[in-house]
Amino acid sequence: MGFATNTIHSIPVDELTGSVAVPIYATSTFVQESPGVNKGFDYSRTNNPTRKVLEDIAAKLENGSNGYAFASGLSAIDAVLKLLSYGDEIVAVNDIYGGTYRLLTYVYSKFGIKVNYVDTTDISEVEKALTYKTKLIWIESPTNPTLKISDIQSIAKLKGEDTLLVVDNTFATPASQRPLELGADIVIHSATKYLGGHSDIIAGLVITKNEKLGNQIKFIQNASGAVLSPFDSFLLIRGIETLDLRFEKHCRNAIKVASYLQSVDLIKNLYFPGINTHKNYEIGNKQAKYYGAIISFDLNIDDIEIAKEFVSNTKYFKLAESLGGAKSLICQPSLMTHKSIPKETRYETGVTDSLIRLSVGLEDAEDLINDLKTTFSLIENKIFERSLSKELVENE
Ligand SMILES: Cc1ncc(COP(=O)(O)O)c(C=O)c1O
Repeated sequence: MGFATNTIHSIPVDELTGSVAVPIYATSTFVQESPGVNKGFDYSRTNNPTRKVLEDIAAKLENGSNGYAFASGLSAIDAVLKLLSYGDEIVAVNDIYGGTYRLLTYVYSKFGIKVNYVDTTDISEVEKALTYKTKLIWIESPTNPTLKISDIQSIAKLKGEDTLLVVDNTFATPASQRPLELGADIVIHSATKYLGGHSDIIAGLVITKNEKLGNQIKFIQNASGAVLSPFDSFLLIRGIETLDLRFEKHCRNAIKVASYLQSVDLIKNLYFPGINTHKNYEIGNKQAKYYGAIISFDLNIDDIEIAKEFVSNTKYFKLAESLGGAKSLICQPSLMTHKSIPKETRYETGVTDSLIRLSVGLEDAEDLINDLKTTFSLIENKIFERSLSKELVENE
């Protein structure tokens, strides 16, 4: 069975009514026959029929054992981190999503969890960072926003039994890459992005490779309570139904946009896994079906104001946080998604002041390219005007 068939038919027809769409069980509680005797549901924080359908679909998409749906990607991440105990250590990719960095640095550090950030694209760096206290290796592949790709299979082989490999698969999606098949233990998603696909929900997923880990996450989900609502579970199922189709188009558009960007003189570094000069091009090709649809670049003039001008002037690329929806989005990580990361740390991983991230949407690629062309001309003029006025001041 192909991925699209698997996805579409993992969404069950409702047994009670034959409904082709999954019903929304908007209820907090369920009537019991006698205390403790029920139809498998007793309270919606613990279990809800709409959410349960979604969780089973998520497990199937990632070829895992158990899936769990959370109120956001970060609450899904939080649930995984709660597997840890005081004194445990994490080895994490060094250009991790800003929100995960914030959670680890400002919340989990208070509970005695230490994080060692390394360049996980270099397997020897991972090896060096592992200690007997390392309980989690946390990677994103590709990373947000500089699209670094780590070798999931090699990292999985390197780690011991007591260390769990967690992969944030938000950028690749299971339509392109399935980390559990490569040896990871847990996959997490900000389902807010491609899985939801329409920029209309905030949601997160955790998928485990086995039942034992699944039961631990289930316990934490119920104990902490950050569950996805029945209505948002329904919307996420609806998004997932077209994931394969949408992701393919996103990725086709991104290749066209990236090849245009290669010809732009104002760009200093272009980050896109589909360019054969990309540092991790080969491993990306090996472990993922697509190059993805996120492109980042920074400018020759690393000026925060010029970059701000750029992101504020595109027409179809809407200036907004997030990614993975039908509408193309643009953002400036240094002032938006990654502002909680200190400047020095940002620069070490390539997140410069002028870095711009594009989420290539589902519009016509030619329109998106024209939009970028117009904006580049505009900032070229700005740079020219600025150098002219500087010259005037100097000559006065
Ligand atoms: C790679 C990655 N992981 C996790 C998250 C957090 O997800 P959410 O915003 O749904 O809480 C994000 C959000 O942008 C992300 O980009």
